[in-house]
Amino acid sequence: MRTLGEVLRLSTAHLERHGSPTARLDAELLLGHALGLGRVEIYTGFERPLDEAELAECRALIARRAKREPVAYILGRWGFRGLDLDVDPRVLVPRPETELLVDRCLALLNGVVGPDVLDVGTGSGAIALALASELPEARVIGCDVSPEALEVARRNGERLGVDVEWIESDLLAAVAGRRFDLVVSNPPYVAADEIGALEPEVRDWEPRGATVAGESGLEAIERLCAEAPAALEEGGALVLEVGAGQAGAVAALLEGVGLGGIGRDTDHAGIERIVWGRAP
Ligand SMILES: C[S@@+](CC[C@H](N)C(=O)[O-])C[C@H]1O[C@@H](n2cnc3c(N)ncnc32)[C@H](O)[C@@H]1O
Repeated sequence: MRTLGEVLRLSTAHLERHGSPTARLDAELLLGHALGLGRVEIYTGFERPLDEAELAECRALIARRAKREPVAYILGRWGFRGLDLDVDPRVLVPRPETELLVDRCLALLNGVVGPDVLDVGTGSGAIALALASELPEARVIGCDVSPEALEVARRNGERLGVDVEWIESDLLAAVAGRRFDLVVSNPPYVAADEIGALEPEVRDWEPRGATVAGESGLEAIERLCAEAPAALEEGGALVLEVGAGQAGAVAALLEGVGLGGIGRDTDHAGIERIVWGRAP
């Protein structure tokens, strides 16, 4: 009979052989999920013997991860700014850099009472739900062109008890005529010919419509920059997450559509990742 410690060691080695860059952490999370144990219980339970049923459950999850399925999809849940979000292959796994995008939105909304906020391409609802829960007076809309993604977002909102209006929309088409104090988006920004070079988790598992934006990678951002100014209140902000190397071009786009006060933030890796501007 194998112990938990042995299974953890073997699982980690197996995931390393299959190219996971976070093999040990993955194994801890997946074995914990299979066995209903927290990470502390894993560390204190190395000598615990696993029965056949438990071993089978652990093997099944580790086998999925060895195919480079994101841990978040296997767990079915992922944390974002303290919210536990349901995630599955209909939506992008929310990223740590997008938590910084929310910080920038909060800073830009500082002093605005009861702001109207729009999250374009809401996916799991991560940004919209974080802003609605951290700014209880805000009226928040999350829109997405994907009805499947919106189902995930809506279910997250209901389960978390956070009030967001969900709208199916190609960028801002379905909210034409409405105005917002802040329009935020983490849009698709990968160029079509670059997706093949990305990690298998992104390339093979995450929805293509959430990652790829035409030949240049800038198609969604260009359309959004063209549409957003008409949807901004006076002094309202457009805040975008962008791909590595895109910040300069996106800042120029924002200026080109008449926004001012352009700013950029870097992410945890020092990459310029967030670009914003304000309507006059
Ligand atoms: C990079 S994901 C971001 C998901 C989520 N906001 C997050 O940060 O984790 C981009 C999202 O934009 C949506 N999307 C792509 N094209 C769109 C369009 N033309 N109009 C609205 N949403 C779009 C995708 O379905 C996907 O959910």
